[in-house]
Amino acid sequence: MQSILEKEGHLAILTVNRPDKLNALNAETIQSLHGHLVDVRDDKNIRVLIITGSGTKAFVAGADIAELAPLSVTEGQALAKRGQDLLFNVVEQMPKPVIAAVNGFALGGGLELAMSCHMRIASDNAKLGLPEVSLGLIPGYGGTQRLAQLVGKGKAMEIITTAGMMTAEEALAWGLVNHVVPQDALLKEAKGIAEKMMRQSPIAIGHAIQAVQAGYEMSQEEALKQEIAHFGQCFGSEDFKEGTSAFLNKRKPNFNGL
Ligand code: COA
Repeated sequence: MQSILEKEGHLAILTVNRPDKLNALNAETIQSLHGHLVDVRDDKNIRVLIITGSGTKAFVAGADIAELAPLSVTEGQALAKRGQDLLFNVVEQMPKPVIAAVNGFALGGGLELAMSCHMRIASDNAKLGLPEVSLGLIPGYGGTQRLAQLVGKGKAMEIITTAGMMTAEEALAWGLVNHVVPQDALLKEAKGIAEKMMRQSPIAIGHAIQAVQAGYEMSQEEALKQEIAHFGQCFGSEDFKEGTSAFLNKRKPNFNGL
């Protein structure tokens, strides 16, 4: 199995599972992850997804270089499009929070996968980078866009053009990851944050994610209109009735969700 999906109550954990190749992403792995992502997206009981890598050495060490090596110009473009469509954009557009638990190397497509998640937590042994130019390539799974969004254009240019690897602490200082914890505490930390998310209204969280995302897909004027639309839609939800009535009755809300 190239990826493993586990469900614990409202939480799902998706593990990239190719440890003998440091979880490098080949076509089969991307297809397997896609199937599990569709399952999580459509499962109304699941409220948060954590994505991590199998083993203690790597989150994902990149696209599978052996698979890339023989490709032509059009095949290279098709590979990038397929990966973006099946994996990276599906993660980013997930209407429930996706947390990357970066448990080791996150290189190339691995860092791109972490960056398509809504937030990142790294273990202290993690090494992150976009080394594509060392292979005669550029990042093709969204890295040129999402890295600049997360760390700013100047830092993104440095990271991409030097093909260097960052430590977890450097990535924290640059705003690329939200938290750094010892490796044996990584999943506990991710689950702790997921717990806080799962206590909130899943409907409101879904709208919030889409509204934030809108700012990266359209002009600010259009994105603010989207915010108004999503804000308004919340008023029609059972979660809104429950959240406001719980507050007014001085009790904790119990959100049924979707
Ligand atoms: N694609 C395909 N195979 C990969 C891979 C990748 N991106 N990254 C690691 N592997 C494979 C290795 O070929 C090796 O396979 P083998 O045992 O059959 O020879 C196995 O995973 C273990 O990797 P290895 O290189 O022996 O581990 P290491 O500890 O010496 O080095 C890295 C770890 C991450 C520094 C090194 O594997 C590496 O540089 N990987 C490529 C990173 C990269 O450029 N990613 C971007 C791709 S676009």
